[in-house]
Amino acid sequence: MMASDDEAVQTEHLTKVYKDFWGRDKVRALDDLTLSIHRGEVFGLLGPNGSGKSTTIKLLLGLIFPTAGGARVLGHPAGSTAINQRIGFLPEESYLYRFLNGEETLRFYGRLFKIPGKELNRRIPALLDTVGLDAKSRKRKLREYSKGMARRIGLAQALINNPDLILLDEPTTGLDPIGTREMKDLILSLKAQGKTVLLCSHLLGDVQDVCDRIIILFRGRMQTLGQVRDLLQVKDVTQIQARGMTDQQLAETRAFLSRLGVSDAVITHPTTTLEELFVRVVRQHTVAGQSSVGSG
Ligand SMILES: Nc1ncnc2c1ncn2[C@@H]1O[C@H](COP(=O)(O)OP(=O)(O)O)[C@@H](O)[C@H]1O
Ligand SMILES: [Mg+2]
Repeated sequence: MMASDDEAVQTEHLTKVYKDFWGRDKVRALDDLTLSIHRGEVFGLLGPNGSGKSTTIKLLLGLIFPTAGGARVLGHPAGSTAINQRIGFLPEESYLYRFLNGEETLRFYGRLFKIPGKELNRRIPALLDTVGLDAKSRKRKLREYSKGMARRIGLAQALINNPDLILLDEPTTGLDPIGTREMKDLILSLKAQGKTVLLCSHLLGDVQDVCDRIIILFRGRMQTLGQVRDLLQVKDVTQIQARGMTDQQLAETRAFLSRLGVSDAVITHPTTTLEELFVRVVRQHTVAGQSSVGSG
């Protein structure tokens, strides 16, 4: 049906309309999304609150069913049991067992995946190291965990089955700047191990330096798709940077450029960020006479 099963994720015209109690259409949460995520790629799903990011992840996991269109994940239809073992998922909010400690939590989820005890004895401390939970916090009950610690144990849980595809919904929520940096480094190390990562975030700075490609979602529709590097390039502006130029050389450079017919040559530092791109994309759609950014 779809192009190639070599892709980690493929969606075609994927659409989700939530119904209200009476079965009437209520929210078009995702509208006609067609995209491919390559194996080994870190892919970013960006957009403000309520733009359809979590809905996309739930559709890929088969937790909810599309209204139209479809998705394939690791070469199988979304939600098929054949792939559950190969996917790791960090939900927007982890529902953790408050009375288990960190180690017990991982053992519990490891058993669900039928991982042998001996293998778990090896994997659990390694994972707790990876996500940065120290010896003391491992023995504490999860009800005593801070939001950042809960995020870390949630991530360890998502990785317990050594998945090929990892879906992370707002992974940096509750993390301080150092925790955020660690999360980004961890995502890059997963990529280095050949894993595919789909990362949802409304925090653009948190994805800018880890994602190979991103899309921006707004009101359920894809607004932009591309490589982070390309999207950040302002194509009609050329910047010239030079170290140790004298005023004289600068004047001559300007004169030379003006002889070439280049007017208004300025030498500046790069300024465009994903943040600016994002604001521009969202503004285009709010200025178009629609209401403001959705909440969710
Ligand atoms: N179970 C649901 N029933 C009805 N509407 C929902 C449901 N889940 C999400 N929505 C709505 O769908 C839209 C997209 O939500 P979501 O995918 O959670 O966005 P995001 O993760 O980008 O914040 C929002 O308007 C939200 O209110
Ligand atoms: Mg969400």
